[in-house]
Amino acid sequence: MHPDLEEILISEEKIQQRIKELAKELRKEYSEKNPLCVCILKGAVPFMADLTRAMDFPLQMDYMAVSSYGNSAETSGVVRILKDLDTPVEGRDVLIIEDIVDTGLTLRHLITLMKTRKAKSVKAVTLLDKPDRRQTDLTPDYCGFVIPNKYIVGYGTDFAERYRNLPYIGVLKKELYQS
Ligand code: PRP
Repeated sequence: MHPDLEEILISEEKIQQRIKELAKELRKEYSEKNPLCVCILKGAVPFMADLTRAMDFPLQMDYMAVSSYGNSAETSGVVRILKDLDTPVEGRDVLIIEDIVDTGLTLRHLITLMKTRKAKSVKAVTLLDKPDRRQTDLTPDYCGFVIPNKYIVGYGTDFAERYRNLPYIGVLKKELYQS
């Protein structure tokens, strides 16, 4: 375990096992739809890479970067597009891929945006869901793990851009983010 962590919340094995299950569920809905999988940078990159490789049917991938937090630890509720999609979404079955849904404001904004752009359908899959922090009534369509309100890092999620490359989800030691 990384020395900056107080515990491993979700092991690499559990993540990979759950991804296989999610891919099977997604197959039922999307195997004939050539979905447009939209990865929300940067945190969702490892999840997108592992999930799409487990989805053994035709799909397309694109990437979007948004910022809702700025430099603050708390969300501003305002979502800025830093990098937009290259692919038109009109008429497409869009599957948004997120690492974590926290307040839900980012995902709510993205779903509205895809609908405005006339996507045929818009759903979301998130690896992690932290419902204790929710500020909307949004529920992700597919979810890997519901987690408690702890400061987690790893498998794409970061603290000050660190720990994204850990293959598991860990809980960061409090002294590292409390001054
Ligand atoms: C995280 C995460 C989601 C968003 C969820 O991204 O990847 O996009 O926050 O938060 P919300 O439900 O409160 O809106 P972040 O802004 O930390 O960027 P990153 O993925 O580049 O780390």
